[in-house]
Formats: sequence, C-alpha cells, structure tokens
Amino acid sequence: MFDRFFKDRKKDKGKKYDNLPLHIAVIPDGNGRWAKKRKLPRTAGHRAGSNTLKTVVKYLSGIGVRFFTIYAFSTENWTRPKEEVASLMNLLLEYLRNAERELEGSNIRIRVIGNRERLSTELQNEILRVEKMTFANTGLNLVFAINYGGRDEIAEAAAKMARDVKRGKLRLNDIDEKVFESYLYTNDIPDPDLVIRTSGEIRSSNFLLWQTAYSEFAFPEVLWPDFTVKYMEQALEEYKSRVRRFGGI
Ligand code: IPE
Ligand code: IPE
Ligand code: MG
Repeated sequence: MFDRFFKDRKKDKGKKYDNLPLHIAVIPDGNGRWAKKRKLPRTAGHRAGSNTLKTVVKYLSGIGVRFFTIYAFSTENWTRPKEEVASLMNLLLEYLRNAERELEGSNIRIRVIGNRERLSTELQNEILRVEKMTFANTGLNLVFAINYGGRDEIAEAAAKMARDVKRGKLRLNDIDEKVFESYLYTNDIPDPDLVIRTSGEIRSSNFLLWQTAYSEFAFPEVLWPDFTVKYMEQALEEYKSRVRRFGGI
C-alpha cells in the first residue's frame, strides 16, 4: 500500500538524507517544565512549544519526510486544569487557522486523528476545513493527534467491527490484523518508523499503541520548547544506525 512512498524515497539515494524514516511521530513533552524554569505560566510553555512545532514541520517537510505525527492532546489531558485545557485547544485552533499562511507553498497535507466528538464545534469545523483545503497536497502529511488515546482508538475499532459484523458487513472469520488496522484512525497512514519523546520521560503515555509495535524510539533529554533542528538531526542520525529486525535475524 505504501510502496509509492518508498519509490519516491529511492531517488534520495546518496544524498545527506538517505535512509530517512517514512513516518516520524513525536510526543512533545516538557512545555510545563520549560515554563516553570522561567517562572512563567504553563501556557507560555505551550505557546513556545507551538513555535517549536512550526520549525520542526518546516524542516521535515523540506528534507522530504512523508509523515509526521504530533501528539497534541491525549485523552488523559482532559484531567488538567480547565484553563490549561482551554489554552491548548486555543493554540491548536490558532495553528490550524494560520495554516494556510504559514504553510503557503509547502504542499503539506494536514489531518487529524483522535476522537473529535469532545472537541468544540469551532475546532471541529476548523479541522474539517483545513483537512479539506489541504486534501490534494502531496508533500508532508502533518498528522495532529487530538483527544487521541491508543486504548480508546483500539476499543473504538473493536466496537465498529462488532457493529459491522452484526450488520453483516464483515464476516467474523475475515477479521485479522489487516482488517483490524483498517478500523483505526490511521488506516491509510503507515506505522511510525521513529518515535521521539522529549523531556527525558521514557514512556508512551497511550500514544499509537498498535502502530508502534516495531517503531524505533528516541528519548532526547531536552524540553520540547528547546527542541531545535539540531536535535532532530541527531535523532535521524541515530535512527540510521539502528538495525531493525522485525522479529527476524
Ligand atoms: C506537553 O508538555 C504538552 C502537551 C500535553 C500538549 P507538558 O504540558 O506535559 O509539560 P510537562 O510535562 O508538564 O513539563
Ligand atoms: C503526553 O504527555 C501527551 C502529550 C504530549 C499530548 P503527558 O505529559 O500528558 O504525559 P504523562 O502524563 O507525563 O504520561
Ligand atoms: Mg508532560
């Protein structure tokens, strides 16, 4: 299914960015600690983090990475104070609203994974608008995970499959990994090759549980607002040297 992307990649042979991951996913952690260190409100950390995101997106789009997923808001992040949730949602709204101007000429396609029902109508509409507007773009796929939880996604997929079996749209005996995957939010997105979590925390926090079965992980000791292109280059360099065995020898 994703052969065409790899075909594109072959043309890069011999260049500096040889052996790039097809899909990079990031857990951008440490905004709050960044702000605390500066005696600023946590929201200032989130704003700084949003700027980091812009820089990273520009860089990855420029070097020809095809998929970039950013964990913007987890299903567990609703437990944060109301004001902080509101500020995170506002930053997302702002990012999407300015996307056209910011990403002008970059050919980036924006999409969103996660459960949208709990998002404000305003944000839901903005998501639909941007997805539609960038649908035909063939450059970097910029995927925002918003109100996303790996367990929620898997449970939802199971429920949808059960519904289809009940309706006679799906046969019980036909269910396998491929069919299961087609019920996930990421059904037309390849699994991440590289997952980067900043800030020194070494856990997945419910991010792409199914999809990261064979991903490589990197945990740079830097808070997300301080994550510069240099750190991304380091992670890519490290990725190059990893031997992926996928259970083989
Ligand atoms: C991650 O930074 C931002 C999101 C949840 C979107 P945090 O807000 O978790 O920052 P720390 O972990 O408190 O430093
Ligand atoms: C993971 O970071 C979620 C996002 C970055 C959106 P958290 O800061 O919420 O994760 P925990 O609570 O430290 O596991
Ligand atoms: Mg955190």
